[in-house]
Amino acid sequence: MIPLSETLARVRPSPTVAATQRARELAVEGRDVISLSAGEPDFDTPRHVKDAAIAALEAGKTKYTAPDGIPELKAAVAAKFRRENGLDYAPSEITVGTGGKQVLYNALMATLNPGDEVVIPAPYWVSYPDIVRLAGAEPVIVETSLEAGFKLTPAALERAITPRTRWFLFNSPSNPSGAGYSRAELAALTDVLMRHPQVLVLSDDIYEHIAYDGFQFVTPAQVEPGLRDRTLTMNGVSKAYAMTGWRIGYAGGPEELIAAMRKIQSQSTTCPCSLSQWAAVAALEGPQDFIDEAGAAFRRRRDLVVERLDAIAGIDCPVPEGAFYVYPSIAALIGRTTAGGRRIACDEDFTDALLEEQGVAAVFGAAFGLSPHFRVSFATSDAELEEACARIAAFVEGLR
Ligand SMILES: Cc1ncc(COP(=O)(O)O)c(C=O)c1O
Repeated sequence: MIPLSETLARVRPSPTVAATQRARELAVEGRDVISLSAGEPDFDTPRHVKDAAIAALEAGKTKYTAPDGIPELKAAVAAKFRRENGLDYAPSEITVGTGGKQVLYNALMATLNPGDEVVIPAPYWVSYPDIVRLAGAEPVIVETSLEAGFKLTPAALERAITPRTRWFLFNSPSNPSGAGYSRAELAALTDVLMRHPQVLVLSDDIYEHIAYDGFQFVTPAQVEPGLRDRTLTMNGVSKAYAMTGWRIGYAGGPEELIAAMRKIQSQSTTCPCSLSQWAAVAALEGPQDFIDEAGAAFRRRRDLVVERLDAIAGIDCPVPEGAFYVYPSIAALIGRTTAGGRRIACDEDFTDALLEEQGVAAVFGAAFGLSPHFRVSFATSDAELEEACARIAAFVEGLR
């Protein structure tokens, strides 16, 4: 037996990756499976972005780069923050990592010690609590509710903060709920944070560009400039430009934190992929039409999925303000038995049975810290979504 680290014992494997993997295995066995579990746009990366990577490859830009980003990409990121968020960052206040996930990882690894606490509203992106645990600290989960639009209230944030709180992790629009905070809602939270100077703020803005019905995106350092010196504003090209596999994320924040994060990165991946960095420069500086084109498709799919799922008796499907997920409640279905004889005692039983009996892969709510729900990603074709919703309806109709 191989002796494993105590650190490893603190974390679970990613449940979303596991769900996607199980769906792949069933498909390999020849089952007709529709996967609604992956968190990535189904579109191809825009042509001009691919061309920039090809040009960089041909020009021999194939060597190690500066650990936290080539100057050209830092300049493009600085221009993006200025243009879209009204935030001014110098190059020394910008970091580029191998995906937003590495940026988050670097930030938490660079700052957390045993006994530190990190406040995370639920439902949350699955990786937050586990990266906090990897860093040796404690996630403090604050549940929200469907009735409150899955949004954290100022009073709940105030109650969760203690002298040991090091970070508040904020994500709007949210994975998995799609909840997007308005300026007023966010200002109510930043007012609380202003009273607690020991708390750093990590704003995960990765779904900034995927929003509906005129939703106006805002980020904490923009809403409350007084927080700028303790806020890490994180973003990336994965979701906005259909570039998940290129692995480029970035952030702006205080120079001291950025320098600490650079140290971690230099001792882990050395630097993000050189070609991907040049592709990201083209994504941020080139034509932005792709964002609106993808947005129109996502809006159509959101409307389709919400309409179909909400019409199923026993499923309550709220309308998300952003991102490409819905997070319906299945509270009314707990305790029932499927046509195949499986008892639904929790949301994991629901998604397991849905996959086995109808070949639809979705992720159970407990993975995101709020039950009983399930997450459906609508970043897939309209035809697949129609078919998947019909199968979910048949599954629920078959419950006894
Ligand atoms: C909320 C959230 N943050 C961050 C990420 C990380 O994205 P990436 O590492 O591809 O930049 C994801 C990806 O699923 C996400 O859903």
